[in-house]
Amino acid sequence: MPNSHKLPWWRTNVNYQIYLRSFKDANGDGIGDLQGLLEKIDYLATLGIQALWLTPFYPSPMKDFGYDVADFKMVDPLFGDLSTLEQLVKKAHHNGLKLITDLILNHTSEAHPWFVDSRKDRKNPKRDWYIWADPKADGTPPNNWLSVFGGSAWEWDQPSGQYYLHTFLKEQPDLNWRNPEVKEAMLEVMRFWIDLGVDGFRLGCAHHLLKDPQLQDNPPAKPSHPRKDIGPYDMQQHLHDKGHPDLHPLFRELRHFLDNYRPEFPRLGFGELHGCSWEEWVSYYGQNDDELHMPINFNLMNTPWKATAVREVVERVESILPDWAWPNYALGSHDDPRLVTRVGEAQGRIAAVLLLTLRGTPTIYYGEEIGMTDMEIPHEREQDTWGLRMPGLGRDGARTPMQWSPRGNANFSPADPEKYWLPVNPNHHEVNVASQLIRTESMLTLYRRLLFLRANTKALQVGSYQGLDFAPDDCYFYLRAHRSERFLVALNFADQVRECPLPEQFNQGLILVSTHEREEKNLAGNLVLEKNEGLVVKLQ
Ligand code: GLC
Ligand code: CA
Repeated sequence: MPNSHKLPWWRTNVNYQIYLRSFKDANGDGIGDLQGLLEKIDYLATLGIQALWLTPFYPSPMKDFGYDVADFKMVDPLFGDLSTLEQLVKKAHHNGLKLITDLILNHTSEAHPWFVDSRKDRKNPKRDWYIWADPKADGTPPNNWLSVFGGSAWEWDQPSGQYYLHTFLKEQPDLNWRNPEVKEAMLEVMRFWIDLGVDGFRLGCAHHLLKDPQLQDNPPAKPSHPRKDIGPYDMQQHLHDKGHPDLHPLFRELRHFLDNYRPEFPRLGFGELHGCSWEEWVSYYGQNDDELHMPINFNLMNTPWKATAVREVVERVESILPDWAWPNYALGSHDDPRLVTRVGEAQGRIAAVLLLTLRGTPTIYYGEEIGMTDMEIPHEREQDTWGLRMPGLGRDGARTPMQWSPRGNANFSPADPEKYWLPVNPNHHEVNVASQLIRTESMLTLYRRLLFLRANTKALQVGSYQGLDFAPDDCYFYLRAHRSERFLVALNFADQVRECPLPEQFNQGLILVSTHEREEKNLAGNLVLEKNEGLVVKLQ
């Protein structure tokens, strides 16, 4: 076991994802902003997380709520300005928090000056910064590639007589990463943010950066199950438009840059890749810790919430990662239904114990710590273009305003956010920070206990993992150990009491965290788990 003080920060921290639009509105326009976030840094620092991942704040026409970037080196006035962002970096650092920003590498907004130039005419020096292609003889798109958000991935540009590629919306043209000028321009963007003090990047859509230069058609999908049902896009095997083998040398270059631009403090590359096989996912760590520091691991989100299935995912991660690679887990994001909506409140508590005691960097999605749930947004009130284009696939439900208090607009904003953005979930009367802070049995108290324990326990931060076979049915038990320190984690996924005689090495210990407020009790040989109970036990 390596010495933990030599480990990079991103191995021992807990990340917290902030969907900026929905976190805290300071200027009263109904939309979350940087000033609002600044005001909540104290909350985040005392929560016990150590890094913030901030979704896009760049100038944007907001067709994809900031993931359509019109200027990578600026702040959209809706969110604040550069000096507020600088203050945020300073305040975060002052409070021991790292700042990871979202960088969308795959595409820009159609309003980005690069694309405005590119579409002017075929001779424009920026033409080749995007992916343009001639129509087929019959005028149809160059191939059968599909947009994730529905329809063809190609948009016809009448004036210049060619199609351009957009993996997402037509307002989000794909950059041509095979052009060295594009790569250089994006490195320049990263230098800018690193100089400003940013500690790492969530590299959005990293999976899509390189495509087949021959633009070959994708074959139809194999009958094997897709990651999740996202409509026609799932009906193709994405052989040629994503996960291209040339991603590996590109990731090596990006990693080399992140490690060496400020060698005294290497920056993190945390890459977004969906729908990969395990082998493909692990391949993006590189051959020798030389590609992404961590490809984000969404696998627990797409797994049936059962003890055996969850254990299988964890042990797949444990067995497939080389010794030098570091695991990570997330149970929610702004692109997916919320955790408690998927598994229910009681199991949401089990999930919290799991996430914060596994070996690997956890990422908490804002509001998860109070058990926020998805809100049903009627189609006519939907904001997310994906949902508007493909009913049922909208992501608004998981993006409603953060619930700070039981009072008006959940103290998210002085204005009613429904008029400008999304409504506050009516469950904020119970599900909110202020009420939960003072209740010992609340979800928030459970998160705070777990975060405090993790931050102060080497075995949970960096210790080994071992799955334990003596767990009763529907339960998942594991051991985390570092030197002489040993922790037993016992999770009951069943809605029934489970009883288990503990083998000798495991039957003496003190309960440090329980989903059922059984802290400070000693284990006495026989472990009885209440229904939906999770425990963290320090073994003697
Ligand atoms: C990233 C974001 C997602 C967005 C997509 C396309 O994957 O997570 O919210 O829609 O990029 O821009
Ligand atoms: Ca605002």
